[in-house]
Amino acid sequence: MANVVVVGAQWGDEGKGKIVDWLSERADIIARFQGGHNAGHTLVVDGKVYKLHALPSGVVRGGKLSVIGNGVVLDPWHLMKEIATVRAQGVEISPETLMIAENTPLILPIHGELDRAREDAASKGTKIGTTGRGIGPCYEDKVGRRAIRVADLADDATLEARVDRALQHHDPLRKGLGIEPVDRDALVAQLKEIAVQILPFAAPVWKVLNENRKSGKRILFEGAQGALLDIDFGTYPFVTSSNVIAGQAATGVGIGPNSIDFVLGIVKAYTTRVGEGPFPTELDDADGQRLGERGHEFGTTTGRKRRCGWFDAALLRQTCATSGVSGIALTKLDVLDGFDRLKICVGYDLDGKRLDYLPTAADQQARCTPIYEEIDGWSESTEGARSWADLPANAIKYVRRVEELIDCPVALVSTSPEREDTILVTDPFAD
Ligand code: GDP
Ligand code: IMO
Ligand code: MG
Repeated sequence: MANVVVVGAQWGDEGKGKIVDWLSERADIIARFQGGHNAGHTLVVDGKVYKLHALPSGVVRGGKLSVIGNGVVLDPWHLMKEIATVRAQGVEISPETLMIAENTPLILPIHGELDRAREDAASKGTKIGTTGRGIGPCYEDKVGRRAIRVADLADDATLEARVDRALQHHDPLRKGLGIEPVDRDALVAQLKEIAVQILPFAAPVWKVLNENRKSGKRILFEGAQGALLDIDFGTYPFVTSSNVIAGQAATGVGIGPNSIDFVLGIVKAYTTRVGEGPFPTELDDADGQRLGERGHEFGTTTGRKRRCGWFDAALLRQTCATSGVSGIALTKLDVLDGFDRLKICVGYDLDGKRLDYLPTAADQQARCTPIYEEIDGWSESTEGARSWADLPANAIKYVRRVEELIDCPVALVSTSPEREDTILVTDPFAD
């Protein structure tokens, strides 16, 4: 297979970063196609920890081309800081190894301010629990046709006209929220200063990727967030502001959908969610606490405690369908070590009726109670397992039952944060 798309199949934080880093050995190019620095991807290589937000998780390996596609929203000040941080860890980044699509919209300081002001003003029940990084407001400007894009940084007159257009919209909005009007000249000056640092990385990404595809290079598309945070198919309105599902990989960089050969869904062996919104299998008991503690479930981006619950096969059937998942990487199996019994949600009870999917209406989602099947746990350790032979029989049974219930094969299993603690079942890049 030439090109593989990696997507989160739950509410994010499934371990995409670790798996993308592991798979990047087999790829030539690693491309982000949506989201922004709301993402937080932790990679551990020989004990060394890397925390990435805007940079593709392929940068750490070196010798690969990393790409930020037009489907991403980019905070240029954040990116330069992140580049400095990983450079200090010994990662080489140059315009030869990192390309940013010229048509990528920029996240400005006003987007973060708007995001946070709205969250502060929201009443209970309407707060989304965003990362506060300006993701939503920037995507709004993109579809509102008033975004400033990377290419606009190259020409002062265009840049100033774009700023004026954006402020025509933002100043009245800010007034309504009680925020000071924008200092237009200061913003223009800030943008001109950062332009010099960003423009060397700007490129016609669609062209570069299509040429590379034709010459047989392998592209790994790296999704951020998870399918249940998708703007169309997630638990709306408690979602992020981009399409997260695999179809976005094509539009988010400018290649055709026929260039996608394998979709790898990243799936945590249980479920977590950070931020507000429905979560049918959420546990508010000792089991939930244990999952959170054993799994170190704290957000990489905001440090918030992640909500934890049992594995939800009904949701997985849904997300595997909307992303056309060819195979899954099941992560954090080791976190389940030591549970006597494990529960898997197989469907929901809604007002006395059984459903095998999560309904769309928010009030119905809130009323859905999970229907569980129980399975024996295992007392042995799976931490660091690198082959099936290292797994206890009941852990294998759990993985096989997950496969059956979601009707999708397991391609990889991950058993610790370390890059190499990974079991390969089917190579997504194999012909
Ligand atoms: P991402 O956003 O999908 O890339 O996931 P995050 O990096 O936000 O969260 C996943 C966390 O779990 C990170 O701290 C990883 O180092 C860690 N992790 C990944 N795979 C495994 C695994 O198989 N076992 C354990 N125990 N931790 C893992
Ligand atoms: P990775 O790539 C988990 C959640 C936020 C909030 C909602 C909207 O690390 O899996 P936003 O700032 O995007 O407008 O917030 O989406 N969220 C994530 N949750 N992992 C992520 O990324 C997330 N990115 C956004 O918590 O509920
Ligand atoms: Mg994360």
